Parts: sequence; C-alpha cells; structure tokens
Amino acid sequence: MIEISHLRKEYGDAVPLKDVSTVINDGEVIAIIGPSGTGKSTLLRCLNLLEKPTSGSIKVDGVEITDRNCDISKLRMKMGMVFQSFNLFGHMTVIENLMYAPCKLLHKSRQEAYDRGMQLLRAVGLSGKALNYPDQLSGGQKQRIAIARTLAMDPDIILFDEPTSALDPTMVGEVEAVIKELSKGDKTLLIVTHEMRFARQVSSRIFYMDEGGIYEDGTPEQIFENPQKENTRRFIKKLKVLEFELTGVNNDYVGMFSDITRFCMKNQISPVLKNKIISVIEELCFTIILPKLRNIDMKISIEVSEPGDEAVIKMSYPDAFDPATTDDDISLKIVKARTESIKYTRQNDRSIVKVVVNYE
Ligand SMILES: Nc1ncnc2c1ncn2[C@@H]1O[C@H](COP(=O)(O)OP(=O)(O)OP(=O)(O)O)[C@@H](O)[C@H]1O
Ligand SMILES: [Mg+2]
Repeated sequence: MIEISHLRKEYGDAVPLKDVSTVINDGEVIAIIGPSGTGKSTLLRCLNLLEKPTSGSIKVDGVEITDRNCDISKLRMKMGMVFQSFNLFGHMTVIENLMYAPCKLLHKSRQEAYDRGMQLLRAVGLSGKALNYPDQLSGGQKQRIAIARTLAMDPDIILFDEPTSALDPTMVGEVEAVIKELSKGDKTLLIVTHEMRFARQVSSRIFYMDEGGIYEDGTPEQIFENPQKENTRRFIKKLKVLEFELTGVNNDYVGMFSDITRFCMKNQISPVLKNKIISVIEELCFTIILPKLRNIDMKISIEVSEPGDEAVIKMSYPDAFDPATTDDDISLKIVKARTESIKYTRQNDRSIVKVVVNYE
C-alpha cells in the first residue's frame, strides 16, 4: 500500500505538486493523465525518490520513504520504473541487461537469473533477441525488454512514465499489450500516459492531474463518461476554451472580437459558426443582458469540441435576470435563429446562461 499525504514538490518558483494526498492499494492499476506540466512525472519521481519531496510524507507498506534512514535500495527493489527512453545498458546483450540487477542486488546465481530472464523474454515475445544488443532492436522491442528487465527484479509496484510516447505509432500496440497483460496480475501499476484509449482500457482507477495535484480521482467510467469537475471535462472532451471577464466600464470589446476571430481560425472553426458565435454574443450579451446589470460583472466562455462543428457559449453574472424574459423581441429572435438551445439557471448567486451554437 502506498500512502501519500500532503506531498509538496517545488522547483524554485514552480510548484508542480502543491498538496497531494491519496492512498493506493495493492494491485490497483492507476492511469495518470492530465495536461503537460501538471506534475505527473514529478509524482512518479517523488515516489521512487528520484526527486526529494519538499515536504509531506510517502509511506510504502508502512515505511516512511522520505525518512533519512530509509534504505533506498530496498525501496527500489520493491518499486521498478519504466522510462519513456528505455534506459537499457547499451554495452550489454539483452539477456545480460535482464540478469545484471538480479545477480547484483538480489544475489541470484547466474543460472537462476538467466532462467528467469529467458522466461520473461518469452513473456514479452522476444526470446529470440536474448543475444542481441539494444542498438539492434526497434523502439517497441527495446521498451518490451525494459519492461522485462524491470520485472526481473520482481517488484510489487511498477511506475511507467509515458512508456509508449517515444515509439513509432506502429509499435505502440505491442508495448501496450505487454502492460495490459501485466495489469491482470497482482502488481500495483502507476502508468502516466497521454493515450486516453489505453488509459481507459488498462486501469481500474484514474488520476486526472491539474492545478498542482490530483484534481479528480475516479474509475475510468466516471472520469471518461461523467467527469465531475470542469477541467477534467474540458480535458476529456478535448475542449478548446476562450474566456473573457468583463468588469467596470473600460472593456476592450474590439479586442474581444478579434480574439474570438483568432481563436476560431486557430481551431479550424468555419466562418459560418464563427459568425454565429459573434452574433450571439453581440445580441444576447451586449444588447439583451448587459443593459440589465447593475454592475458590469460578466464572465463569458466559448468552448469548442474537437471536430469544431459546435460551440457552447456560457455567460455568468450576479443579477437574477433570465434573458428569455427580455422585452427586446427582435434581438431574442435573432439569437434563437442562430442557436440550438438556450438554458438559464442560477448557481451560487450567479445567473448562468448556456447557449449551444452549431454549424447546421
Ligand atoms: N528538474 C526540474 N527543475 C525545474 N523545474 C522542473 C523540473 N522538473 C519538472 N519541473 C517543472 O515542474 C512542472 C511539472 O513537470 P512534470 O515533468 O512533472 O510534468 P508532466 O505532467 O510530467 O508533463 P508532461 O506531460 O509534459 O510530461 C513543470 O512546470 C516543469 O517545468
Ligand atoms: Mg512527464
């Protein structure tokens, strides 16, 4: 069992992990996903002490590993790591790569280490490569060897940091298949990956990392089908988001429309949809809603999903005003003609208007 509590890691001003607490039970297979730079690698590197946490505690099977007296080599025997870049020993043959640590650290006999090594090579489908050097192998083969080498130490826990991201796409499948097979056993696996389909298939639990920690934690079904929090939803649906905040009187409305135009071009949104978005903001936001607000305090977000054929515009403001009750019939008609749906709700003392605009 791994118990992480109040883990913090700073690099100067950068604080990728602010305050991470979680418990990982034996045999769990956890996929760690999230945008770049959110501390996924840092978390793994803190777990096996490649990085020293700034503060907080990590216990592995009840032993505090950040303690100065902790036996790091013992920890490393319990916990293996597979890197994006394989890190095989280039001057050794494949089988020697697999035998080295078991002989050196576990004091296995050469015969014993060889037998186990060959067994593992068969398991990853590479027994024919035992006498080759790493340079003579493809990327996918190197990574399967790296996994076999980690398994040769028989660790209880294996950390994978983007094991397939350095591979040619044709080789991703063979490495994923080896990890999937492994996930059926009783080892605890933590897998950082940008391959969402794989994350979903292989894991029993997902950590979505963002904002300095584990932002959302759930089963693959929960995270992929029904994410509870905003950033998770945006990440899973690959939403591109543009946000504005209007406060006071000196808002740069012209700049706002040129930002929208640029955002639409960048995300390959058709001119038809772009014009609808602009027209909805002009009519609904500027003509219908803004004049009704006591103070200008409005947040606007525009979200587009991957194929770029639909946009969701959300506006929020404190006044309890439902735009459907406006007396400006003409503007309302224009908005309705350009939208799929308009929904008004109140949440946390703010009005939220959600408008769906599509290409059709
Ligand atoms: N050795 C370091 N020195 C300084 N800053 C670092 C160091 N390692 C990581 N960082 C910073 O910490 C943050 C988190 O980095 P990390 O590598 O953990 O992100 P990640 O989630 O693994 O991203 P990616 O998906 O791109 O691999 C980043 O802002 C990064 O620049
Ligand atoms: Mg990383």
